[in-house]
Amino acid sequence: MSQSTPETSRVERRIALSFGISMIAGFALLAVYLSGGQTQLEAILLAVSLGGIGVGIILWSQRLLPTELHVEQRHPAAEVGNPEAVREIVAEEGAITRRSLLIRALGGAFAGLAAALAIPVLSLGPAPGRSLFHTPWRSGLRMVGLDGKPIKAGDVPVGGIVTGFPEGVPGSADGQALLIRVEPGLLRLAADRMAWAPDGYVAYSKLCTHAGCPVGLYRSLEHRLICPCHQSTFDVLDGAQPVFGPAARPLPQLPIRIEADGTIVALSDFTEPVGPAFWNIHDG
Ligand code: FES
Repeated sequence: MSQSTPETSRVERRIALSFGISMIAGFALLAVYLSGGQTQLEAILLAVSLGGIGVGIILWSQRLLPTELHVEQRHPAAEVGNPEAVREIVAEEGAITRRSLLIRALGGAFAGLAAALAIPVLSLGPAPGRSLFHTPWRSGLRMVGLDGKPIKAGDVPVGGIVTGFPEGVPGSADGQALLIRVEPGLLRLAADRMAWAPDGYVAYSKLCTHAGCPVGLYRSLEHRLICPCHQSTFDVLDGAQPVFGPAARPLPQLPIRIEADGTIVALSDFTEPVGPAFWNIHDG
């Protein structure tokens, strides 16, 4: 850093002022966010915070850093006892002190910016924990319609389909399931899953394993479920395996039984997470 002159002192004050304004803007942005937020004001404060750092760094690099090639001469040993040399050394130490001041100001500006950048993290909300691995389905819960009334086996003819929810949670986003009835002999489920589909009634999660859209179309003659978002197609007879489109994972099957009164009852929750194929990677 060059020696202090009125000009460099003025530049240093401007740099410190820029960093100071940046720091204040960053913390003010955090305060505005925590007090309820105001989008336009937050944008202005973010611009000031970033701009202050930018202006300060530009001034520092263009006005304070030496541009000419400089070879520093060694002090002769005799200078230690030379009052003039000692004054020069003190002046240079003064320059180091100014540099420390500017570095601290820059650190403050970055602290303000870090406070501003904490906002997206705060906006993420609480961590979901294990909740995404479960739905409201439990063993013994009856399947109900959107009106909360139990769905009975007789309500679904062969080739028919209804959307059901866990009892007590009609409209559940992650618990919604498709109850489909096919001719019993047509199902080609894994041996341990045949018991989950009594009399040709089989239930699958309604959430597409591609991106989570509700799988709302059923071609009964082909026994295919189709997601309207990107046309992923699932084979109902073969455990809802995807046969077309971007989905790479079958729709999870809901184990069910039919009670004597015809109501449909879950044997357990879905045995795998419902929804997008993200779970293929983070299953567990
Ligand atoms: S969300 Fe179903 S195919 Fe994309």
